[in-house]
Amino acid sequence: MAHYAVRESPPLRGEIPISTSKNAVLPIMCGALLTGEDVRIERVPELTDVKTLCALLASCGCSVKKEGDALVLNAGALQNPQDEEDVRKMRASYYVLGPVLAREGHVELSLPGGCAIGARPMDIHLSSLEQMGATIEIKNGYVHADIKGRLKGAHITFHTASVGATCNILMAATLAEGETVIENAAKEPEIGDLIDLLTAMGAKIEGRDSSKLTIQGVDKLHGAQHKVIADRIEAGSYAIAAAITNGRLELINAQASTLRTPIEILRAMGVSVEEGKDSLLIDAKGKTLTGQDIMTDYYPGFPTDLQAQFMALMTVSEGASLVTENIWENRFMHVPELMRMGANINVHGHASAIVRGVKRLSGAPVMATDLRASFALVLAGLAAEGETVVNRVYHLDRGYEKLDEKLRAVGADIERIKEAD
Ligand code: UD1
Repeated sequence: MAHYAVRESPPLRGEIPISTSKNAVLPIMCGALLTGEDVRIERVPELTDVKTLCALLASCGCSVKKEGDALVLNAGALQNPQDEEDVRKMRASYYVLGPVLAREGHVELSLPGGCAIGARPMDIHLSSLEQMGATIEIKNGYVHADIKGRLKGAHITFHTASVGATCNILMAATLAEGETVIENAAKEPEIGDLIDLLTAMGAKIEGRDSSKLTIQGVDKLHGAQHKVIADRIEAGSYAIAAAITNGRLELINAQASTLRTPIEILRAMGVSVEEGKDSLLIDAKGKTLTGQDIMTDYYPGFPTDLQAQFMALMTVSEGASLVTENIWENRFMHVPELMRMGANINVHGHASAIVRGVKRLSGAPVMATDLRASFALVLAGLAAEGETVVNRVYHLDRGYEKLDEKLRAVGADIERIKEAD
C-alpha cells in the first residue's frame, strides 16, 4: 500500500489549478441516468470515486466513454444496478436510486456502507420517495423500491437540509407526474450545478440556490452537455497549504463566491485573500496567524469538509481556537493524529474541540480514517519539523486529483511511496 512522505517545506509559491468538484460531478453523472440520450460532462476529475461510480453506472446498463477529460454517458439501455461491490464502496452510490426508480419503476440497491464520520442515515431519501408514491422495503441489506406507473409530485419537507437527499429527490422529481416542492432543501453550490445540468436536459426547476425547490415533472428528458464547477473544498484545502507554510499561492479556477465563510476566517486569522474573477490569491508571507473559532453549518455556513484542514492550521496559530462540528457526529478522528505530531487539542464531547497553538509540530507516522482528515495531516506535515508519513492514501485518492504533483509544483516536499505488496 502506498503512503505519502511529507517533509517540512519552504513557503509554497506559485499557482495551483483547482480541479472540478468531486461532490458536484458524482450526482451529475447520475443525472445522465434520467435520459436515454448522450450526456457529455466536461473536465471530469481523475479520482477513484469517479472511477467507482463509472463502474456502478456501467452495471446499470449505462455506456461510459472517456473522450480526453470528458465523459460521455448514455443510459439508453438502463437496468437495475448489478454490481453491489461498488455500491458498498461509495456512499454517493445512493444517487442512482432516484433516477433508476423514476425511469424503471423498480430499484433494488444494496444499502451503502456506513462511513467513519457518522451514521449517515438515508431516512430522508426513502421517506421522500414514499411520499411520491413509492413502496419501500428494506430486506437483507437491500432497499427495494417500487412504483405503480410514475412517481407522483408531492410537497416534501426535509427534517435536515441533506445534500444527498436534495440531489436524489430533485432528480426523481424531474420525471414525476405533477409538481414536487422540496422545503428545507440544501443550498450547496453543487446542487445549483446539478440543477443547471437537469435544466439543460429539459427539466423545469425553480428556486436554485434557495431552500425551496419547485419541480414540474416532465415526460422525458433529453441529452445535454455540461461543465462542472470548480471544487471549493479542494480550493479551501490549498488555501490552507499557503497559510500554514507562510506562502503565497494563486488558486486558478477557485470561485470566491462559494467560499465566503472560509475566506472570512482566513482573513480574521491574518491571511491576505485577494479575490479574482476565477481565482484566489492567498498570501501569508511573513504573517503571524492567530486562532479563530469555527462552527460547521449548512451552506453558506462554514463547511464541515474544511473543518479538519482548518484545525491543522490552528494547531500552529497563536492563541486558542474553538472548533464546533455540527454536521457529523464523529468528525474529530484527525485529533489524536495531530496530537501525535505535538498539537495541543482538547476535545469536549462529540462536537467541540479547543485548539491551543504550539510553536512547532514534529513529524510522525499518522493515519487518517477519511478523506478530509487525511489532507489535514498532509497540511500539518508541511509545517512540521522532520518527516510525516501519511498512511492510507486511498482516502486522498478519492477526492484530491494529482495531489502530490500539485503540491510539488509549488515547492512542497512530498513524495508518494509505493511499497512492495
Ligand atoms: C455530502 C458530501 C459530504 C459533506 C456533506 C455535508 C457528497 C458526495 N458528500 O454528504 O462531503 O460532508 O454533504 O456537507 O456530496 N441525514 C439524515 N438523514 C438522511 C440524510 C442525511 O439525518 O437521510 C443527516 C446526516 O446524518 C448529516 C446531515 O444530514 O448529519 C447532512 O448529511 P448530507 O447532507 O446528506 O450528507 P451527504 O450528502 O451524505
